[in-house]
Amino acid sequence: MSQRRRAALKTSRGSGCASAARPRLLGAGRLKYADIENAVRRITLEFAPGVETEFVDRDRALAQVVEWAEKSTRWPIVIFGPEGCGKSALLRQAAAMLRDLGYDVVYVDPLHRFFAAHTDVDEIARKLADAASEALGIAQLKLATLAIDSIKELLERWGRRRVAVLVDEAFQAVGLDKAGIYVKSLLNLIEDPPRSYEGIVAVVATSEGLTRREIGRHRWSLAMPMWNMSREGFRQLYDKVPGPKPPFEEAWRWAGGNPDVLSKLYTANWDKDAVVTWLIREKGLTPDFIARWRGWLERVVEDPEALWSPDAPEELIRQLVERNLILYNIYEREQIFWVDQPPPERDLELGVGRDVAWQTPLHREAVRRVLEAV
Ligand SMILES: Nc1ncnc2c1ncn2[C@@H]1O[C@H](COP(=O)(O)OP(=O)(O)OP(=O)(O)O)[C@@H](O)[C@H]1O
Ligand SMILES: [Mg+2]
Repeated sequence: MSQRRRAALKTSRGSGCASAARPRLLGAGRLKYADIENAVRRITLEFAPGVETEFVDRDRALAQVVEWAEKSTRWPIVIFGPEGCGKSALLRQAAAMLRDLGYDVVYVDPLHRFFAAHTDVDEIARKLADAASEALGIAQLKLATLAIDSIKELLERWGRRRVAVLVDEAFQAVGLDKAGIYVKSLLNLIEDPPRSYEGIVAVVATSEGLTRREIGRHRWSLAMPMWNMSREGFRQLYDKVPGPKPPFEEAWRWAGGNPDVLSKLYTANWDKDAVVTWLIREKGLTPDFIARWRGWLERVVEDPEALWSPDAPEELIRQLVERNLILYNIYEREQIFWVDQPPPERDLELGVGRDVAWQTPLHREAVRRVLEAV
C-alpha cells in the first residue's frame, strides 16, 4: 500500500467537529490582504506519516476565500492544478476559515471517505458519518451526493443563511462522465436554493487531468487553476520540515514548489532518484510509450512549449495530461484567473512554459530518465 493511501486511511473516519467558531475572522468585513497573515487560524496538516505541520503561506488564496464568503460564489468554483500542489490542504483550511466567518460548512473528500461538518447541527454530521462508513464505492458516491443534500437541508430545514460546500475530488467519486452534472447540481443550489440565503460558497477541487475538458464544455462553473507554491511559500514549508535536509535551492529545483514532492523526498530520505523511479512506475512510463513519442518527448523535456505548436500530436498531449505530467493551455498570468499566485510566465529550469508546463521538475525528470535509458 502506498504511503499516500495509508495516510489517507488514517483520516478516513472524518469528523463531525461542531467546531467552536473562533472569533478572529467574524465580522471581518473588508479584510485586507495584508491582514490575512495574522487573522487566520491555521489548521494542522499531515505532511508525511507522523509529521504534522501548520498550513503555511497561500495568503492570496486565503484572501480569495474571504472574498467568496463576502460576495458568494456566482458559479461553483472548480480548482484544478498540478497533483500535490496543495488543493486539498487549501480546501481544508478554507473550511475552517469559512466557519470562522459565520458559515455552516460541509467539506467532503469522498475518495478518502473523509468529511468535516463545521456546523452545530449534529444530524448533518451523523448522516455524513453514516455515509462514510458504507462500503468503499457506495461511501464515495453517497458522500458526494450528501454534501449537496446537506446544504439544502441546512438552508431549508435548519434555516441557516450562510452555507458552504467544499468537495474534494468529487469527479473521481461520481465518475468523469458525470462531472458536468455534479457541477450543475451545485449551480442549481446557488441559483435556485430551497430557501433564500445571505451567502453561499461552493468549491470543488480536482486533480484529474481530463476533468477540465469535460466541465469546460458547459458554462456551469468557473474553473480556476492553482499552481505550486511560490518560492517564499515553499521556503516556509521547507523550514518546517524536520531533520537534516538538502540546501533549499536543491529542494526548490527538484520540487518546483510542489509540497507533495517535498513530502515524498522527505519520506525517501531525500533520495531524489527513488522518487523519480516511483514516478516512472506511477505514470506508466513504459519503454513502448517513450519509444513511440521519443522525438517529441526529447523536445518537450527541453521546453514544454514545444507542445504548443500546431503540429504537436493531440494523442501525446492527451496522454501527458491524463497522466498528470503536464498542464496544458495555461491561463494568462493575471491574478484574477488564479487561485493564489500564478506561476512565472516562463522558467525553463522548472519546466514552465507560457502555455504548457511540466507539473514539477521531477515529473520532467522521470520522462528524461526513461528517454536516456531506452
Ligand atoms: N499550504 C500548505 N501548508 C502546509 N502543507 C501543505 C500546504 N499545501 C499542501 N501541503 C501538504 O502537501 C501535501 C500535498 O498537498 P495536498 O494533498 O493538499 O495536494 P493536492 O493538490 O490536493 O494533491 P492531489 O492532486 O494528489 O489531490 C500534503 O501532505 C499537504 O499536507
Ligand atoms: Mg487532493
